[in-house]
Amino acid sequence: MNDKALATSAAISGHVAVVGAGAMGRGIALVAASAGHTVLLFDAIAGTADKARTQLGRDLDRLVERGRITVDEARARLARIVPAAGLDDLRDVSLVIEAVVEDMSIKRDLFQQLESLVAPDAVLATNTSSLSITGLACELRYPGRFAGMHFFNPAPVLPLVEIVHGASTDRSVIAQLQATAVAWGKTPVVCGSSPGFIVNRVARPFYGEAMRALEEGAATPATIDALMRESGGFRMGPFELTDLIGQDVNYSVTESVYKAFHEDPRYRPCAVQQELVLAGHLGRKSGRGFYQYGDAAPAPEIDTAPAAPMPVRLQVFGRLGPAQPLVAMAGAAGVVVTCHDGPGHMDIDGLKLCLSDGRLATERAATEGPVALLDLALDYTNASRLGLAFADQVPDTMRATAIGLLQGMNKQVCIVDDVPGMVVMRTVAMLINEAVDAVYRKVANEADIETAMLRGVNYPLGLLDWLQRIGANHVLTVVQNLDRIHGDGRYRASPLLRRKAALASAHQ
Ligand SMILES: NC(=O)c1ccc[n+]([C@@H]2O[C@H](COP(=O)([O-])OP(=O)(O)OC[C@H]3O[C@@H](n4cnc5c(N)ncnc54)[C@H](O)[C@@H]3O)[C@@H](O)[C@H]2O)c1
Repeated sequence: MNDKALATSAAISGHVAVVGAGAMGRGIALVAASAGHTVLLFDAIAGTADKARTQLGRDLDRLVERGRITVDEARARLARIVPAAGLDDLRDVSLVIEAVVEDMSIKRDLFQQLESLVAPDAVLATNTSSLSITGLACELRYPGRFAGMHFFNPAPVLPLVEIVHGASTDRSVIAQLQATAVAWGKTPVVCGSSPGFIVNRVARPFYGEAMRALEEGAATPATIDALMRESGGFRMGPFELTDLIGQDVNYSVTESVYKAFHEDPRYRPCAVQQELVLAGHLGRKSGRGFYQYGDAAPAPEIDTAPAAPMPVRLQVFGRLGPAQPLVAMAGAAGVVVTCHDGPGHMDIDGLKLCLSDGRLATERAATEGPVALLDLALDYTNASRLGLAFADQVPDTMRATAIGLLQGMNKQVCIVDDVPGMVVMRTVAMLINEAVDAVYRKVANEADIETAMLRGVNYPLGLLDWLQRIGANHVLTVVQNLDRIHGDGRYRASPLLRRKAALASAHQ
């Protein structure tokens, strides 16, 4: 089948079966029924499919109350969801989506039974988050019709669906599932069967780098979260988000990706999260995780620097990369700015202020004099908070000048201890490295990786766009400095990041 034929491939019509009526199966059944399919819902535990349908009835009632759909539409959607008494009832469906427990042998057994029941052209799909699509298909007679169709929780709300091909999946089946996802109002992306697919692989550093920064004493969880939100532009910080997801759930995704990559240090879980899980501090659901919950819980305290006087003069050397807007903002705030040629940095009364490149400020100060580092922001003009780190050599009076400069531009300032790559810079550099490496390893194409991170986890900017904004050379330098300082194999730069940096240098 050529690409034109693939692009016009038809969505699957006919009845759909969903096997497993837990959190995901229930949601997927509603998505398919809402798109007009009759959905046969089967669960191994008798009564579970009926209970799921009752729950879906309540969910639909809420949509009616909010004016999102009419009573008639809610009734029609629910009427299309039919609990099945046994697998035999599923023989006439065109598509089966499996959402049973995450267990390779249970899923394999199930698909072997299903294969002998359904028509030869029916498509078999799994909602697995972590198992190999190739491995699940290997005992099937027709593995070409088997693929991953990975929805996110809650399936009726979240738009992204990863369509995952195993080694034997027919391209026509991938095209059919893409078209089906679109017909169901979803945003499909296509990826290969590799650990974590796109989102659960590329997002690992979002959690891992924050937890490592915490372990290294960079700042408190509330301060790191505040920087990730207000400087990085992420909707939630990594600690509040993992408390919401459940520390056990997030830890087990990390662990499964780590194991699937044969214990590659890049994906190694963090001790600080393992301790929380062992203690039963699972987040919101247990009343305590990185934060405490409940009426008596203390409000998280963000370490915001106290007010400092704004400096009178600022010297700017060269260009500051993504932080360049700060120069005009300093001028607008009444600071006397003079600009010079030279390698990009600011000078405030003898204190050198540079965008973090992964080196330690203290290391640099040994040869460069007093150094302060600025953390990355998504948008320096509109960020309400910025992170600063100081070399150990910098006296308090000098620290106040850098704090005062940023406060004069209406920024809250958080002081981060002098750790490599600070908070936002190390996280975003490692996210970009992971996204680029997924492209390099042909997990998915650039466009689908951008879409996956924007639509699947609501990142404020596509990671490949972010690479352009920061500059490939700078991102590579950050990753290489992290690698040099930590030297544990975690911070290996992707060969494609090196290529992109070399290309960018050639075009300068
Ligand atoms: N929960 C999530 O956030 C999420 C997100 C994406 C994908 N997934 C994947 O979706 C799948 C289901 O996850 P869940 O959270 O809905 O699990 P769940 O535990 O809520 O539901 C699983 C259901 O499958 C049923 N079941 C078990 N074995 C069965 C069998 N052989 N035949 C029929 N039914 C069987 C169970 O009785 C249960 O009702 C897993 O593969 C999981 O990795 C989960």
